[in-house]
Amino acid sequence: MNQESTIPNSIEIQAGGSLVGKVRVPGDKSISHRALLFGAIAEGKTTVEGLLPADDPISTASCLRSMGVEISPIIKGDKIEITGVGLDGLKEPEEILNCGNSGTTMRLMLGLLVGRKGRHFVLTGDQSLRSRPMQRVGQPLKLMGAKVNGRSNGNLAPLSVIGAKLHGAVIGTPVASAQVKSAILLAALTAEGSTTVIEPAHSRDHSERMLKAFGANLQVGGEMGRHIHISPGATLKGQSITVPGDISSAAFWLVAGAIVPGSEITVENVGLNPTRTGVIEVLNDMGANLEIINQRSVAGEPVGDIYVKHIKSLKPFKINGDIIPRLIDEVPILSVAACFCEGKSEISGANELRVKETDRLKVMARQLTLMGAKIEEKHDGLIINGGYLLNGSTLDSETDHRVAMSLGVASILAKSDSVIKRANAAAVSYPNFWEDLNKLRNWRE
Ligand code: S3P
Repeated sequence: MNQESTIPNSIEIQAGGSLVGKVRVPGDKSISHRALLFGAIAEGKTTVEGLLPADDPISTASCLRSMGVEISPIIKGDKIEITGVGLDGLKEPEEILNCGNSGTTMRLMLGLLVGRKGRHFVLTGDQSLRSRPMQRVGQPLKLMGAKVNGRSNGNLAPLSVIGAKLHGAVIGTPVASAQVKSAILLAALTAEGSTTVIEPAHSRDHSERMLKAFGANLQVGGEMGRHIHISPGATLKGQSITVPGDISSAAFWLVAGAIVPGSEITVENVGLNPTRTGVIEVLNDMGANLEIINQRSVAGEPVGDIYVKHIKSLKPFKINGDIIPRLIDEVPILSVAACFCEGKSEISGANELRVKETDRLKVMARQLTLMGAKIEEKHDGLIINGGYLLNGSTLDSETDHRVAMSLGVASILAKSDSVIKRANAAAVSYPNFWEDLNKLRNWRE
């Protein structure tokens, strides 16, 4: 959360009932960050419809404002306008750039700032962000000539950046991370010579799509689009962007609709970019009653409505390998889904979960164990024996937004009521989550 609040915000979740109705999830978080960042360095105005009005994009906007970018207030339902300052227009900020809880803000901001010659920047964030690894971005940027320093040999924020003259490079990234990839692409925009990023697996490609739309000289090639080539020199031009609903937020309703008896939900206007739809593949493999309707393309991103209806006897699942980046943020809610289908589900190759807003493997295992789930933490994943009733309990998001919302869904199916401490963490990506949950709840037989 942006303001490090010391006031725990507990929510009581009554067990039972079903979830019925239509819901529209807020704008995609990844696309919202990128719209703000690319709009800031474009020439002219960028308008954004459907921007996520939540803590994380607000952190990105406030950092950009500190560097002289005009951005209209971010209010739910409003179209915002960004007045771009051009590729070299960002001012040296007078204050420390506070990235709040947002890893995407800090990592993409590093890529954006390392090439601003002669300017000095200091970036920090909340307690969680200050413990997350930044070397994964600092190191490849250093191959391009960047000067980034910080605690723990440059791995931990606060970080300082001294803008430098960059040169292009061919960079193979060790982890499939869209944040790392996007930081390199941003740095490459002002480097001398072209840059190629090669990923071990295809991570979300919103940066590639949107940079192309802004006019960047970018080509995607290689097997499954894992090679991204970018040359400097193009002027980015302000755009009109429509942000689709976030599939990572929709995932809570998709899983809830599938596992809570009597449920029937339509989630409207969900982004269906294939680098993000792993959760739908898993739910289909589990035998969920799920249908994508009204598919369309909105501002270069595939979008649709998703209908889901509860079905008995869902099958357990096994996930690992290349699908992991396509559902990286959905592992917490999928671990809840696994608790409610009979048999053994296994999540492997998901070590990245350990360096999210919390160590999500540890935290989900700890919290679901409090409810009596049979869940075992492995070094790179979870093994869950599902099909047992869970108990209501006093739970804790441990400050993690996706943990808070996942526990909210698990609590509906428990034998008795639960309390979720620090449930306000949801504000990072889905400020109205608890309100939407109440609206969907249905207590009729
Ligand atoms: C994001 C990329 C993912 C994801 C995060 C948002 C992005 O992180 O988990 O919530 O917007 O680029 P990694 O790049 O670390 O996998």
